[in-house]
Amino acid sequence: MIKMAVIGFGNIGSGLVQLVTENAEVIEKDLGCKLEIKYIVDIRDFKGHPLESKIVKDFNVVLEDPEVSIVAEMIGGSHPAFDFSLAALKAGKSVVTSNKEVVANFGEVLLKAAKENKVAYLFEAAVGGAIPIIRPMRESLSSDVINEINGILNGTTNFILTKMLSDGMSFDDALQLSRDLGYAEANPSADVDGIDSCRKIAILSALAYGKVFSCDKISTQGIRNISRRDAEDAAKMSCAIKLIAHTEKMSDGKILIDVAPKFTEIDSPLYSVSDVFNGILISAKASGDLMFYGRGAGKIPTAGAVLADIAEIVKHISIGQIPPVLWKRAEDAELFDSKLQMTRFYCRVKGDKTPEGVSIISSKDGETSFVTAVTNEYETEKMLENFVCVSKIRFM
Ligand code: HSE
Repeated sequence: MIKMAVIGFGNIGSGLVQLVTENAEVIEKDLGCKLEIKYIVDIRDFKGHPLESKIVKDFNVVLEDPEVSIVAEMIGGSHPAFDFSLAALKAGKSVVTSNKEVVANFGEVLLKAAKENKVAYLFEAAVGGAIPIIRPMRESLSSDVINEINGILNGTTNFILTKMLSDGMSFDDALQLSRDLGYAEANPSADVDGIDSCRKIAILSALAYGKVFSCDKISTQGIRNISRRDAEDAAKMSCAIKLIAHTEKMSDGKILIDVAPKFTEIDSPLYSVSDVFNGILISAKASGDLMFYGRGAGKIPTAGAVLADIAEIVKHISIGQIPPVLWKRAEDAELFDSKLQMTRFYCRVKGDKTPEGVSIISSKDGETSFVTAVTNEYETEKMLENFVCVSKIRFM
């Protein structure tokens, strides 16, 4: 029998409890032993709840119980999630989480603590929801060279873009629906402004290149300024607008990471990733292009990824063979200036005049849209100096 504790009885925490209960038979068959949730820690009152007897308010109860070998941190946010995770690892308990904020901000500290205490810190659910992506990167691709990763990593914004641009829903209604469905963050600005995608690509980049960059140094744009006109123009060019998180090792050895809405062409596997789905396209030296696809958010799909980590830990617990993942915090100087990456830009300006050498897409309602040749953002800004720019979106 393996005993664990779930910290935080919110959306994903309650999903995990539900899944461990519903899948008890499958889990026992897979692990060769029963998995019991001994405690659920939450500071709120759950009077009369069927699981009331398991619910405790004080995390120290878990820390001090030698029977608990696995802690599922399902709190969200940086604190106390980080502090509880560190304390659990130091107490010799493995920790699993879906908390991308903690992994992006404190991953290197927690991974080091896990290694020192010979336990695991696993976070499959922190990127891509249900999609197995962390494990393939840790295991299958660990000896390959990752050239580039492009991903739709936020279910909420992909859902909003799909509902707004294909189904004609307003931004506010689409956002509210994504909250009702349990996709959005507690503060949905993290989704809409690209911060959640930024944390996730910082994690993937750290797995690929061994260094994690602070999110405040990563160029990050969200979807607030995307309009239906942008989408119509994109469709004219057989493109869809997607919030793309990107990391790439450049020829000078620097690492490029950025998050921005991008014109995604029809021949990209990411073009048809819609609704709450995520897609992650990895280009690796030996493996070539790999595409990972699945539900990027939601209570049960995300809980499924957490359960996969728990299963991995249980299977390794007796032999103590959890492979340590380690990365270090990168020096800021090693980050490539994202404005220097070469691509085409879609631009829309007031009036009917455009810079020279561009391809016009549409001209109506007093605005003209066009696409530049391949260039960088500094050159594009220079090109637009004498225009009133309404929209500027790069190609993937
Ligand atoms: N708010 C996140 C998303 C949840 O929409 O992708 C999953 O990380």
